[in-house]
Amino acid sequence: MAHSGSLVIHPARTVAGSLRLPGDKSISHRYAMLAGIAEGVSRLENFSTGADCASTLACLKTLGVQWERSQNSIKIHGRGPKLEVPTASLDCGNSGSTMRMISGILAGQEFTSELIGDESLSRRPMARIITPLETMGAKVAARDGGRPPLRISGGHLRALDYKMPVASAQVKSALLFAGLFADGETRVSEPVRTRDHGELALRAFGAEIKQEGREARLQGGQRLRAIEAPIPGDLSSAAFFICAAALFPDSQVIISGLGMNPTRSILLDVLTGMGVRISVTQLEEQHGELIGTVQIQGDELKGTTIRSPYTEMLIDEIPVLAAIAPYTTDGIEIGDARELRVKESDRIAAVASNLRAMGAEVEEREDGLRIPGGQKLRGAEIDSFGDHRIAMAFAVAALRAEGETMIRGADAAVISYPEFYATLEGLGQ
Ligand code: S3P
Repeated sequence: MAHSGSLVIHPARTVAGSLRLPGDKSISHRYAMLAGIAEGVSRLENFSTGADCASTLACLKTLGVQWERSQNSIKIHGRGPKLEVPTASLDCGNSGSTMRMISGILAGQEFTSELIGDESLSRRPMARIITPLETMGAKVAARDGGRPPLRISGGHLRALDYKMPVASAQVKSALLFAGLFADGETRVSEPVRTRDHGELALRAFGAEIKQEGREARLQGGQRLRAIEAPIPGDLSSAAFFICAAALFPDSQVIISGLGMNPTRSILLDVLTGMGVRISVTQLEEQHGELIGTVQIQGDELKGTTIRSPYTEMLIDEIPVLAAIAPYTTDGIEIGDARELRVKESDRIAAVASNLRAMGAEVEEREDGLRIPGGQKLRGAEIDSFGDHRIAMAFAVAALRAEGETMIRGADAAVISYPEFYATLEGLGQ
C-alpha cells in the first residue's frame, strides 16, 4: 500500500487519560467471515475501524454477503455455507489475515475465485495455506514460490490431520474454517500456542470444536448460527498507548473494554516484569473472549529478553517494544522472530533502520534484535515502510526523543487504527 502522508510527532512530558479502543482486528475478521457463512443476521458491536477489516467486508460483499454498517456496529446477513460466485477478483488490500483466512472458506466453495492484494501483500508467503488446502482437495494456483494473487478452485474437501510447520493463527483459522466443508474430523496442531480467536469464534457461532493442548479438532458439515456480540477493544492497538505510558514514570492511562484473551495479553506480563505498574479489573467474558479494564502507570523501565514461545504470542507487539527498548535501563533482546521479516514489511529491518536514524545502537540478527538500554534517541526523519505497526511504534518512541520526529508514510496507521494519532495527541501532556 503506498502511503505518502508525513506527520510530525513532538516530545511529551508524560501521557495520561482514559480511553476505549475500536474492536480487535483479529476477532473482527473472524466474526465477519463466520457471520457470512452462518444462518441468520449477526450484529457485531465495536467492529474494527481499520482498513484491513474493511477489506474482509468488501470481499464478503463480492461473495454475495449483504451487510450494513452504522458507525462501529455492523449487521451481517449470513448466506449459510454456500457463497455467491464472485464476478470480480476479491481484493484483500494490505490484509494477510483476509487473504489467508477467507481462503479456507473459498476452498469449500464450488467455484473458482481470485484473490489479489496490494504490493506488500503480493510479496507475502501463502504456501503455508496452499499446501494444506491442496491436501484437503482444493486447487490453489499462485505466483512463483506461493505468492499472491491466488486462484482457488474449491469444492468438497477431505478432512485434514495437520501439524503446522509455522506457528500462525491465520493458518490455523483458515484450516479450521475449511474443515467446516470437509468430510470427517479435521485436526490442526501448532508448534507453539498462538491466539485462539478462531476456535472461540467457531464455538460462538455454534460449532462444536475440541481444544486439547496445541491441537484443535472439528467435524465437517456443521452449520453456523448468527450471533450478537460486542468486539473487545484491540490489545495490539492498545499496546502503543500501554508502551507510551511505560515510558514516563508519572504516567496514568486507563483503557476499558479491552480484549484480555490470555493468548494475546502476554505484553502485560512482560511489561510488569519490566517494572510497569499494571492492574486489570472488571474482567468479564463475552462469547469466550475476556474483556477488562487495564490501568497502566510507568516506573523505572527495566529491560527483558523475549524468545519462543513468547515471541509468537507477542508477535504484533514486538515493533513497539523494540522501539522503546533504548529507553530501558538494560535493553531488550528479541529472538526466534524470523516471522517478523514476512509481515506487512520486514519488521526487523524496519525497526533497526528507524532506531539507527534516531541515533540508537542496534544489533540486527537474522531472527531478532538486540537493543542496548540507557540510550537517548533524537528526533529524526523516519519511515513507516508502508507498515501500520512501524508507523505507530515510532510515534511512541518519538514521545521521549530529543526534538521532533517526522514519520514518512504515517497514514499507514489506517490499516488497523485510523484514530491512532488523534488519540495519542489527546493523551500527550
Ligand atoms: C493474526 C495472526 C498473526 C498476526 C496478525 C493477525 C491473526 O499473524 O501477526 O496481525 O489474526 O490470526 P500470523 O498468523 O501470520 O502469525
